[in-house]
Amino acid sequence: MSLVVVSNRVARGKPNEPMTGGLAAALLPVVEYSGAIWVGSSGRVRDGHQKEPFAEVEALGTGALATLDLPAAHYGGYYEGFANSALWPALHSRSDLIRVSQGDYRSYREVNAFMARALLRFRKNKTAFWVQDYHFLALGAELRELSVDDPVGFFLHTPWPVPAVMQGVPNHRELIEAMLAYDLIGFQTEEDRQNFLGYISQDLGLTAEDGIVVSRHGRTQCQVFPIGIDAEKFAQYAAKSISHPDVSRLRKSLNGEKLAIGVDRLDYSKGLVNRVSAFDRLWTEQPNLARSISLLQIANPSRGGIEAYGNLQNEVARLVTDVNGRHGEVDWTPIRYLNKGFSQAVLAGLYRTAQVGVVTPLHDGMNLVAKEYVAAQNPADPGVLVLSKFAGAANELDTALLVNPHDIDGMARAISIAVSMPLTERRMRWEAMMKKLRGHTIQQWSADFVATLEACRGERAAVA
Ligand code: UDP
Ligand code: G6P
Repeated sequence: MSLVVVSNRVARGKPNEPMTGGLAAALLPVVEYSGAIWVGSSGRVRDGHQKEPFAEVEALGTGALATLDLPAAHYGGYYEGFANSALWPALHSRSDLIRVSQGDYRSYREVNAFMARALLRFRKNKTAFWVQDYHFLALGAELRELSVDDPVGFFLHTPWPVPAVMQGVPNHRELIEAMLAYDLIGFQTEEDRQNFLGYISQDLGLTAEDGIVVSRHGRTQCQVFPIGIDAEKFAQYAAKSISHPDVSRLRKSLNGEKLAIGVDRLDYSKGLVNRVSAFDRLWTEQPNLARSISLLQIANPSRGGIEAYGNLQNEVARLVTDVNGRHGEVDWTPIRYLNKGFSQAVLAGLYRTAQVGVVTPLHDGMNLVAKEYVAAQNPADPGVLVLSKFAGAANELDTALLVNPHDIDGMARAISIAVSMPLTERRMRWEAMMKKLRGHTIQQWSADFVATLEACRGERAAVA
């Protein structure tokens, strides 16, 4: 059976370029090794009503990448509007940031329908479609409208919130009912799956048995598939990248001081303000730690056209300047704050240089950076991961120092414990996490999803 993977954001597999987010980073090796076709947005738009959506196809490992120019009239309402100003804040439990303009929902549905039409040309005799993330909640329903009877599955990379929060999304009922056209819906955690089933029961009056919802569309299986990483690749990158100029310059500049690292898209879900505040608290309460631990915060700008993101950029920049102003010395900068991205090969070397990894989102579907930080450590002298309990990764990485990102004092304490943790404890915690990462690779994640999708479509056909 051939596999068509669909997402808004794609990656081109250029080793020297940063990845734009976890979805693209995770799917790249899946497509490269599985021979799938990956269909997504080119990032460009086109005017007019195209009968045949324009696609550019290029090879990607054993697979291929097909990028489409999305319709100009609907792109803003779809991407910056409904997807990132209604769904993203809701999915991350930030109802206060939901902003919708008239027409956004329509544009979102138009782009979903456009993508469904575009996918038809990639359909072979036996094809499974695997749709990714909140940009395409209704794509399964649009494919069914076009009489596509193949297996169609969906994986959500973000959290799914409690029902009351989804009720704040305009047109939520129609949209979530449309999701039941998928044969399989995958979540990062059991909590996300339960929240989804809670909505289905409260708002749609449908019950699930063993995670299977029966609706007018047929059967939909809801299951948890926590996303993994290629831990071996990160370990190799980390060992090799020591000689990369960015990594060796960083090492030299530290003069034996310890380093904490944060790597995030500049997004309000990542808890950057609270993290910087925790370091401020640490240096205020324990001035002896000034000079002995500094923070390297990589904050790659994201979705800059949206007001909430612009405000956040200003807020974090102001706070970092303030903290550096108060704690800095003529020869010591507490926070090195970089608004740019690095390739994963360089990131791995930066992760390995840091004795503490700080991953403290307020809400995160999984957070791959947490897993990558662990995989990149030197086994003989591993660093300590300080991890938010509200990241999906906390379910597996439970020997990290788990923190509540709203508790600034608690985070400051955890950072201080991490800085002075003895080697034996660091190794014990790290080995337990590595075992989990090695036992669940990104390749296994995709193989599990696709095998389950094929099996549940088979059952659906048998019932019909
Ligand atoms: N990343 C990167 N370069 C950067 C920052 C991040 O390649 O400068 C990658 C990182 O390696 C990870 C992904 O982007 O694979 C971020 O994924 P995560 O799940 O942590 O967060 P998201 O951005 O998807 O919310
Ligand atoms: C998160 C989302 C992805 C998205 C990425 C980057 O990881 O789950 O779907 O691609 O952020 O965001 P962007 O809007 O730049 O694609």
